[in-house]
Amino acid sequence: MQNTLDLAGKVALVTGASTGIGRATAKAFARDGATVVLADINEKDAGDLLQELDKSGATACFIKTDVASPSDVEALTAEIINRYGKLDCAFNNAGIAGPMGQMLDGYTLEDWDRVFSINIRGVMLCMQQQIRQMLKQGSGTIVNTASIWGFVGAMGCSAYVASKHAVVGLTKATAIEYAPKGIRVNCVSPGTIRTPIIKPAIDAFDNFEENMIAAHPIGRLGEPIEVGEAVVWLSKPASSFVVGQNLPVDGGFTLQ
Ligand SMILES: NC(=O)c1ccc[n+]([C@@H]2O[C@H](COP(=O)([O-])OP(=O)(O)OC[C@H]3O[C@@H](n4cnc5c(N)ncnc54)[C@H](O)[C@@H]3O)[C@@H](O)[C@H]2O)c1
Repeated sequence: MQNTLDLAGKVALVTGASTGIGRATAKAFARDGATVVLADINEKDAGDLLQELDKSGATACFIKTDVASPSDVEALTAEIINRYGKLDCAFNNAGIAGPMGQMLDGYTLEDWDRVFSINIRGVMLCMQQQIRQMLKQGSGTIVNTASIWGFVGAMGCSAYVASKHAVVGLTKATAIEYAPKGIRVNCVSPGTIRTPIIKPAIDAFDNFEENMIAAHPIGRLGEPIEVGEAVVWLSKPASSFVVGQNLPVDGGFTLQ
């Protein structure tokens, strides 16, 4: 990995930072010089990551946050400003898969609401706080994590699919609202990436991994850092004219 340090002096927040895509992205932000704030409900893995970042010489902290909780999200932003005085780059990435292999007629309202409370309401709550701060600064970048399932449908996970379509819509709507104020909002849509979130799908669907590999023209699953690199680029001045886009990082999945 090339170390560019072109985010030196920037403060970057990553939600869902403890494992998977968030973890890899947090490391990429740190590699490029940003001060990194890790937010997650998973303290153990965040602790390990923090140690790793400390050893590498990065400036980082962990703020335990449930993105579904308005008070947690408010406290997260307040703590970032208290510690570092600003927020330059936000990556709203925390998400859950919800029930896998469950058709809509069998969904409980509780399961449906849980997926929405984290995957879309959580993104909205985080964005509100971030935008209020970025408006004061007159600048900032926000990247949200959508999914290939924000482009097309899939069997047995309608809450997830619907929530990711909503992330794309929220991204586009807010990109238009805040581009004139110096805040760029975009999202990434990962294909199937090797992270803990795909375990329930592997358990629920026969030959999930083989079928997913076959569905990605590149002929393999993605790695978390491949998404992280796209997120970091969307957070840098290098992408300064990219506004409200939904960038597939999917090995060609959505081309078909
Ligand atoms: N892995 C894939 O194939 C894939 C594909 C498309 C989109 N995504 C999306 O990427 C994002 C990251 O997922 P991942 O693949 O890295 O899986 P992951 O399970 O490794 O990461 C999700 C992270 O979010 C955290 N989290 C869950 N609920 C939270 C909450 N309420 N508050 C704060 N943090 C919470 C988890 O603790 C975890 O660290 C998710 O939004 C997911 O929907 C993943």
